[in-house]
Amino acid sequence: MADLEALKKEAALRAVALIESGMRVGLGTGSTAKYAIEEIGRKVHSGELTGIVGVATSEASDALAREVGLTVQALDPRPLDIAIDGADEIAPNLDLIKGLGGALLREKLTEVQARRLIIIADHSKLVNQIGEKAPLPIEIARFGFLSTIERLRQIVPGGRLRQPGAQPYVTDNGNYIYDAQVRPGGDLAALERELKGTLGVVETGLFLGMAERAFVASPDGVQELTR
Ligand code: A5P
Repeated sequence: MADLEALKKEAALRAVALIESGMRVGLGTGSTAKYAIEEIGRKVHSGELTGIVGVATSEASDALAREVGLTVQALDPRPLDIAIDGADEIAPNLDLIKGLGGALLREKLTEVQARRLIIIADHSKLVNQIGEKAPLPIEIARFGFLSTIERLRQIVPGGRLRQPGAQPYVTDNGNYIYDAQVRPGGDLAALERELKGTLGVVETGLFLGMAERAFVASPDGVQELTR
């Protein structure tokens, strides 16, 4: 296992230790959240955890959760006891950029209902200010996407439509993603309001004030950050 992978797993295990039997758990998406889902599956299989219900934030996590033997239910209005997910940038106040894996809409819909959102990551995700390293993914409707991008460029210049091959990337919800560049140091709440008020925007990868804590693994150990 590559070093970074070992760190992601260490962080994931710390978060999964917070799960108790009978909890409804939001299952994140991505290469770090994968370790959390596998560990929950292991604990359910061994009988260490019982009565766990998972709510997945993507088709991929739904499939993985079922594969490791978890009971998975669709999101409904009931609160979740906890959600565990990765992030692309983590600021000192636990504001986040998420969505490089493309699952930002379902992640936000799910995690906003969690009593506790726990972030897991390796140390490469830590930043002093949001926008330092990662682009900000913005999910946009396919219909009229070029017009939406024009509108977005007035707000966040310098981004691009996510297009890994010949065709644009399509999310689980059938939308496109515009990866924007955020200027570090700006007013993120105002930016979020402006982006959400832009015609054609479905959701942004800014997760502000949502995370309760983060387990961030580095070669020196796992750091626990709280707001
Ligand atoms: C998925 O859309 C994302 O929000 C992921 O949680 C985020 O990209 C972190 O993924 P990794 O754990 O793979 O870095």
